[in-house]
Amino acid sequence: MNIVIIGSGGREHALCYKLLKSSKINKIYCIPGNAGTDEIATNIFADINDFDEIYKIVLKLNVELIVVGPEIPLVNGIVDYFEKKNIKIFGPNKKCSQLEGSKFFMKNICKKYNIPSAKYFEISDINQIEKFLSSVSFPVVVKSDGLAAGKGVTICNNLDEVLKDVQEILDGKFKSSNKVFIEEFLEGEELSYFVITDGYDYKCLGTAQDHKKIGEGDVGLNTGGMGAYSPSKIINNKLENKIQKEIIEPTLNGLRKEGLIYKGILYAGLMINNGEPKLIEYNIRFGDPECQVLMMRLNSDLLEILISTLENKILEQKITWSENDSITVVAANKGYPEQYKKNSIIKNLDTIKVDDNQQIFHAGTTRDKDGKILATGGRVLNSTVLSKSLSVARKKANEILENVKWENKYYRKDIGFRVIDK
Ligand code: AMP
Ligand code: GLY
Repeated sequence: MNIVIIGSGGREHALCYKLLKSSKINKIYCIPGNAGTDEIATNIFADINDFDEIYKIVLKLNVELIVVGPEIPLVNGIVDYFEKKNIKIFGPNKKCSQLEGSKFFMKNICKKYNIPSAKYFEISDINQIEKFLSSVSFPVVVKSDGLAAGKGVTICNNLDEVLKDVQEILDGKFKSSNKVFIEEFLEGEELSYFVITDGYDYKCLGTAQDHKKIGEGDVGLNTGGMGAYSPSKIINNKLENKIQKEIIEPTLNGLRKEGLIYKGILYAGLMINNGEPKLIEYNIRFGDPECQVLMMRLNSDLLEILISTLENKILEQKITWSENDSITVVAANKGYPEQYKKNSIIKNLDTIKVDDNQQIFHAGTTRDKDGKILATGGRVLNSTVLSKSLSVARKKANEILENVKWENKYYRKDIGFRVIDK
């Protein structure tokens, strides 16, 4: 089978790496891919939101399945487009993608179907803010409605900060939306919980712990994610049962009552406090960098899992995992998530050993015409290791990055610190 993977991040390199292990794969094309996917598959340059252009490529190359990595094409309706063309595509349709594309949509589903989530207040009148603030205590969280690449959230400690952030969003700080709301701050430990679903049945597709802050010790600005490990250390049968019964099932059932059949990966960002899960957000795709650690641990054939979901047979599909821990450490361009220098050269990646237990997944890299690898994006490399112990995995992942000759490299050396260094 020929397939196309849409996207260019570490997530897509990891999906490509894993899908290539399937005996049923003939060829993988990545649109647009990165210097890492270029080594193991074929990159084709196209705009991932130009569906007509992608359709031409798909027809020309006899592609039978499209796997979509990032949220933007999903929110823009790529699945609806290709379903109409009778081409198999993995991911939720446009209406279901609002679970991530609109925080209001997600909050309304939570309210209507009693899914535990933070108390919130929609700001249509700035004068009502003080009234809401009297019902919750600081800090509070200010959020914009639309997509903001993990950066649309600010934690505020006083009224002045709230007013400043609200005004910035109302003034159009985020192009995707200028709707805004304030939310109660949830205490606890975060957990990323993944399911794969055909809209009726579902299976868990692993757990992970992300590290969103740029600085060691979880300080500084929010990023797309600076590292992750899997499985989470806080999950147990009782908690998992609660997550499924109180959050995942009411969501899928609720969506169906709204006439929406959710097919694809559903990623619940949860806050766990005293064994009680609350939903922070939904994502409609694999996490990045969480996907990298999940793909290292997954033993089953990913292609079979995706196809069985598309054929509504996910319950018949056996999904097995390595017993080992996996960690990924993200190397970013120094300066990210703010300004950073582009096109610095990464020198010695070809000398670094990779195998089933250690991989460097690329993200913001491109190969220039002389074959040199350039760091073009914010998050650039993902040093990903599978090992019996999380601390050994981290040591190795950090050592790998230490050995990469790239002057603009920045990475957190403390990924997993809450469980490794406690
Ligand atoms: P989101 O864009 O909604 O995923 O939020 C990004 C990050 O902000 C989350 O992963 C949390 O770390 C933090 N966050 C968002 N909402 C809340 C909340 N209500 N309480 C505490 N932390 C939050
Ligand atoms: N790592 C967070 C995300 O993918 O949304």
